[in-house]
Amino acid sequence: METTSAQEKRALRDALGSFSTGVTVITTHDEKGQSLIGLTVNSFSSVSLDPPLVLWSIANHSPSVPHFSVGRQQAIHVLSKDQEALARHFATPQADKFSGVDHQAPGDFGAPLIEGCSARFYCVTESVVPAGDHQIILARVLRYESEPVAPLLFVRGAFATI
Ligand SMILES: Cc1cc2nc3c(=O)[nH]c(=O)nc-3n(C[C@H](O)[C@H](O)[C@H](O)COP(=O)(O)O)c2cc1C
Repeated sequence: METTSAQEKRALRDALGSFSTGVTVITTHDEKGQSLIGLTVNSFSSVSLDPPLVLWSIANHSPSVPHFSVGRQQAIHVLSKDQEALARHFATPQADKFSGVDHQAPGDFGAPLIEGCSARFYCVTESVVPAGDHQIILARVLRYESEPVAPLLFVRGAFATI
């Protein structure tokens, strides 16, 4: 279906928003390792166990797009119920999103790490598929950590908890 008017887009967005999701913050750094990149994402989904693959999508207009090209490492943080402020923070464009955010700088792994999440997946981009106004990032999970902490949810445009 082609969506043309702003009204039609709003209606489709509202209908899609009835599908509740978790919330992630996905981090990496730029090519030169000079600046840290991070954004809030709820399009994250599991794809395959063998090999371990996940996907998420990023808006074409995001300045972060080039930093998630094939071969780039990224940390996918599944936010816990107490991390709504972090979700809002990383959804707001600004020059340095990591200023004032407690994090571990990239070391052996090429992405900054945030603590207190329900799960964290250490990934590398396997392929990037153009898809309308977004790019689908298909990423391979290199390793992961998981904590028994209730996740943050997002449904109908609002944050929620179980
Ligand atoms: C709950 C929530 C989920 C979001 N999910 C996505 C997403 O899946 N893909 C995306 O491109 N932007 C998503 N956004 C918007 C981005 O977080 C926001 O546009 C951010 O500023 C993009 O990072 P940038 O500063 O690198 O452009 C989401 C925002 C919120 C609040």
